[in-house]
Amino acid sequence: MKKLWGGRFTGSAEEWVDEFGASIGFDQELAKQDIEGSVAHATMLATCGIITEAEANEIIQGLKKLEQQAEQGELDYSAKLEDIHLNLEHHLTELIGPTGGKLHTARSRNDQVATDMHLYLKEQVSEIIELITDFQTALVDQAEQNIETLMPGYTHLQRAQPISFAHHLMAYFWMLDRDKQRFIDSLKRINLSPLGAGALAGTTFPIDRHMTAELLGFAGIYENSLDAVSDRDFILEFLSDSSILMMHLSRLCEEIILWTSQEFQFIELSDAFTTGSSIMPQKKNPDMAELIRGKTGRVYGSLMGLLTVLKGLPLAYNKDMQEDKEGMFDTVKTVRGSLKIFAGMIRTMKVKKEIMEGSVKNDFSNATELADYLASKGVPFREAHEIVGKLVLTCIEKGCYLADLPLDAYKGMNMLFEEDIYDALNTYNAVERRKSAGGTGFSQVQVQIEKAKTLL
Ligand code: ARG
Repeated sequence: MKKLWGGRFTGSAEEWVDEFGASIGFDQELAKQDIEGSVAHATMLATCGIITEAEANEIIQGLKKLEQQAEQGELDYSAKLEDIHLNLEHHLTELIGPTGGKLHTARSRNDQVATDMHLYLKEQVSEIIELITDFQTALVDQAEQNIETLMPGYTHLQRAQPISFAHHLMAYFWMLDRDKQRFIDSLKRINLSPLGAGALAGTTFPIDRHMTAELLGFAGIYENSLDAVSDRDFILEFLSDSSILMMHLSRLCEEIILWTSQEFQFIELSDAFTTGSSIMPQKKNPDMAELIRGKTGRVYGSLMGLLTVLKGLPLAYNKDMQEDKEGMFDTVKTVRGSLKIFAGMIRTMKVKKEIMEGSVKNDFSNATELADYLASKGVPFREAHEIVGKLVLTCIEKGCYLADLPLDAYKGMNMLFEEDIYDALNTYNAVERRKSAGGTGFSQVQVQIEKAKTLL
């Protein structure tokens, strides 16, 4: 098979060398975008009088045919033709003859590949934004069912203060909202057309870059042809936004894994998102949560990989840049899959309210209530803290909790303690009273949920 750039060559590479240099094994994912870009380019070439209308029509008809064949998986791709761009051009020429060779007038694979990836990420990021919204909806739905479900809130993974389970779930809603804003903002930079930058320097042909940009639905064009073909910031940004999103998902995975353990038993995942063990019949493993936690590592890997690929590259295009694709495709697949799994997992999980609430009643996470109690009666908070610390110690020695101590024991420590300390110690009250803005108090959680719903 003759190389499309074969003119100045007399020798040829061995097959395994071609294989090593080829990207067709993975960039065939860009067939649709490559054709879309070519259709816009051919249309513009004709409008600007660079090729005839008849030639453009012939090219566009041919491209449409190839699009159908690509969709049906009927196109043969060859590593000899390196990448999706040369493979499609080859098929076009086979199909319509020498006119196919006119398509590449005033274009280079350098602006072509950049255009393809802009088109690809634009579509994928928009879909990822929708998937985030769906996952957020699942979180809000679960939160609404659990406003008055009490659970221990933790710091250092030690019981800290009782909270509403809805409050805990909503914390993830807001993380995801920031993730979504980051993806939305990135669209500004993805939504630019590099097409018409040529190999690096622009072209002598009277092209119209704004026309192709408009035909492809881009909001504008790169102002500098060198930058247009060298820029991979938009992919780095995607990988970076994805890394932060995956880090959030991974933290929730970790919690889900803890909550489903025998030690916690706060939730039960649906059978659809768990697996059994081939040897231990009792097992129900949170595989999906573990996998998403694990896959976070490969997304970070793709980000570090591309940052490293780019750091020493002189302008403009270098073949190193072909390494930008596999990590991007893999990340798209990972992020989409993880978000879909998560939405399902959260929607179908069973919250074991009694166990959660039971656990928070049998601990010292209401100790702050007592310290606040004294502080609100004028005792300096530090002193109140010390007194309650001693009371906790007394309980530990006696093997009981704060609510089990008789009023005498409290009065012995400070005469300001009255019968109403038992109300203050009640876990439900402890949560209910945290009405400061953004706090876990039920009324505040309700406010938060209403606000969240306006963002869906
Ligand atoms: N397959 C190449 C890539 O993905 C396309 C651009 C090739 N350009 C070139 N000058 N060899 O980067």
